[in-house]
Amino acid sequence: MTPLWQSTCADCVIGVTKDIELNTGRFITVEGIEGVGKSTNIEHLSRIIESRGFKVLKTREPGGTPMAERIRALLVEHGEEELPDIAELLLMFAARALHVNNVIRPALAAGTWVVCDRFTDASRAYQGGGRGIPMNNINQLADWVHGNLQPDLTILLDAPVDTGLDRAGRRGEPDRIEVERREFFSRVRETYLQLAGSEPERFIVVDATQDLESVRRAVERIALEIE
Ligand code: TMP
Repeated sequence: MTPLWQSTCADCVIGVTKDIELNTGRFITVEGIEGVGKSTNIEHLSRIIESRGFKVLKTREPGGTPMAERIRALLVEHGEEELPDIAELLLMFAARALHVNNVIRPALAAGTWVVCDRFTDASRAYQGGGRGIPMNNINQLADWVHGNLQPDLTILLDAPVDTGLDRAGRRGEPDRIEVERREFFSRVRETYLQLAGSEPERFIVVDATQDLESVRRAVERIALEIE
């Protein structure tokens, strides 16, 4: 067996070995604070990619597998006990390990394009920017959990916090993360924008304050251009 990935984290001794890994599908992630219109635009994005003749798997994080969905429930529900920030981060990555291993990698290897509602950038933005966990710790977990698997493209739907929270507020009762204060989401948004600025070749930022039709057209153009 050929080792395809060895963690670059100095303290880690775990490597991942797989027989063959053909990463033929594209891995596309969609990110943004609550209320920016991810769900609608993911539907649209996926339909356009399908119309180009590719098979598409739409999935989400935290979640995307039966066990990861159970972890999601622990993360978003108002539980009976306090969830320390570190436990929140580790649960995000536990769900991600299931998702990457059991769903994302097999789909990509089969040539399916994966469109994922949030991925590790959400941990950087929410647990890093929002909660203040050092980015270095998050990147070590990312390296450990999904090593050489990075999104080919990340679409960041960006809108000011007030706009997003106002739209999200109309959707009903806020979950455990949505109840956070405005300042928390400002840090999340800032971190997303910093990530996009630091990796311009991977990120495309779409102004989600535009009317729905303009955002839809922007997403459509992206979907038609992905190689
Ligand atoms: P969703 O409502 O957009 O599906 O996401 C669920 C919540 O989980 C949302 O508030 C963002 C949060 N989240 C994190 O805090 N860190 C992560 O790594 C992921 C994937 C989501």
